[in-house]
Amino acid sequence: MSALASSSIVAVIGGGTMGAGIAQTAAASGHVVKLFDAHAEAVDKAIADIRTMYQKLAEKGRMSAADADAASARLQPAASLAELAGAALVVEAIVENLDVKRALFADLEGIVADDCILATNTSSISVTAIGARLRLPQRLVGMHFFNPVPLMPLVEVVSGLASDAAVAATVFDTAAAWGKSPVHASSTPGFIVNRVARPYYAEALRLLGEQAGDAASIDAIMREAGAFRMGPFELMDLIGHDVNFMVTQSVFHAYFCDPRFTPSVLQQELVSAGFLGRKTGRGFYHYGEGVAAPQPRSEAEQPRPDHVSLTTEPGASAPAIEAMALRLAAAGIEVRHRKPAEGHSLNEAPALHCNGAAIYLSDGRSASARARDNHHPDTVLFDLAFDYASATRIAVSCADQCSPAAYQAAVGLFQAAGFAVTRLDDVPGLAVMRTVAMLANEAADAVNQGVCSAAGADIAMQKGVNYPRGPLAWADSIGIAHVVTVLHNLAQAYGEDRYRVSPLLRRKQASGARFHA
Ligand code: NAI
Repeated sequence: MSALASSSIVAVIGGGTMGAGIAQTAAASGHVVKLFDAHAEAVDKAIADIRTMYQKLAEKGRMSAADADAASARLQPAASLAELAGAALVVEAIVENLDVKRALFADLEGIVADDCILATNTSSISVTAIGARLRLPQRLVGMHFFNPVPLMPLVEVVSGLASDAAVAATVFDTAAAWGKSPVHASSTPGFIVNRVARPYYAEALRLLGEQAGDAASIDAIMREAGAFRMGPFELMDLIGHDVNFMVTQSVFHAYFCDPRFTPSVLQQELVSAGFLGRKTGRGFYHYGEGVAAPQPRSEAEQPRPDHVSLTTEPGASAPAIEAMALRLAAAGIEVRHRKPAEGHSLNEAPALHCNGAAIYLSDGRSASARARDNHHPDTVLFDLAFDYASATRIAVSCADQCSPAAYQAAVGLFQAAGFAVTRLDDVPGLAVMRTVAMLANEAADAVNQGVCSAAGADIAMQKGVNYPRGPLAWADSIGIAHVVTVLHNLAQAYGEDRYRVSPLLRRKQASGARFHA
């Protein structure tokens, strides 16, 4: 298959936020673009704004002046649907309403040629349902862009039950020719990104709800240890709680109230209060002139230990704790390697031992449960980091049975390696670990259910929401067995179906296979 020729006419319907971005992208890629909106002034405004945008890009040297002029000239207003007759592709970005979209496509079928491709930018309506009443439903696919369209590379190319694979392939190649990173998805609630991303918000909301930590501290952990561009609370404040809560509810109801997607009462309260985030001046945070951003909590400085012991099972891979040991060694702390048999009162590896504290990577149990299981009260857990070599913060938790001295020894150890240390209350799975495990679980289920490929899931999360690594590649690097253990332990701790392990993760664990070679 190949992309639409750049000489083909592209029609965009809806001159709002998304339609304008799509028109800007298509015209910059060489197409004559006809823009139609039910409100003529929306078309005029969109075209004027896009032309200004091209000029600014030319001034910044990101586009030549000649290209900017040519792209501006290719943008044409359409005063009626009938003027879209010559289009090879129509992209719809109107109001998010099934009946209105169906009526529009029905009208279009009477206007465009039979080989014209119809695409909808819907983010929450079934592509199958939108196409159901068409004379030629096979020519309709989803072409789901992300806001702001000119900057966000992802396009989910969504096939409904009747969509022709060749049409999806043409749209995929066309999006790629426009400089986008397309992925194929089947028409299921939330497609890829709006489904797989749910735990990023939901786990944070649960942590806050359980008083594991404050919003600023959890945001800092997710940024500085997890390497996410924005923490979940600041991101929800930016998206708007009305929008974010509505998407969560929509996915939850579309999956027949699967507890995986249960919305948050905390977020509902924000919506009820009108605390919608940045746009109303208040969400989790307060905004406005002179309002200081709340700072994350970090533990007070503790003495630096001179050595630590690393206990590993012979032959077993323990990439996270080994990477942490490398960071400690790089900071000049002597790391003594031990085998479990030589350990004192310990019966679990891999572990770090420092001045009486047994320090483990979170496996989804609370520190208190782990202390009990190991008969070692002085137990401290540390969280997952995207890259232990470069992370600037690490989250820890401490068993209720742990002595202050042992806890302080663990804090001093991480501080000596240059981490700011944030203590979370003793919740299962800490923050980055449980979030990434749940993201990987959701991505694995999407792959298992044929929504997308493993590569597609990872590209979607990196290109659509800027994750530092695809969740499945991340599961590979943590070790799929460990991710399964985390989820299993979360399910045990909470007794909720929400944390049930994806059958595909279990299968990979059983076979030892990875998601990516
Ligand atoms: P918007 O409200 O900014 O723009 C919608 C435009 O469509 C308005 O100019 C309106 O006059 C026009 N319109 C409404 N009904 C029409 C009709 N029957 N015929 C012609 N024009 C009509 O909306 P936005 O945000 O651009 O969203 C458009 C679509 O894109 C929706 O389906 C939305 O769910 C989807 N979407 C939105 C994203 C976002 O972040 N805003 C992201 C991805 C998809």
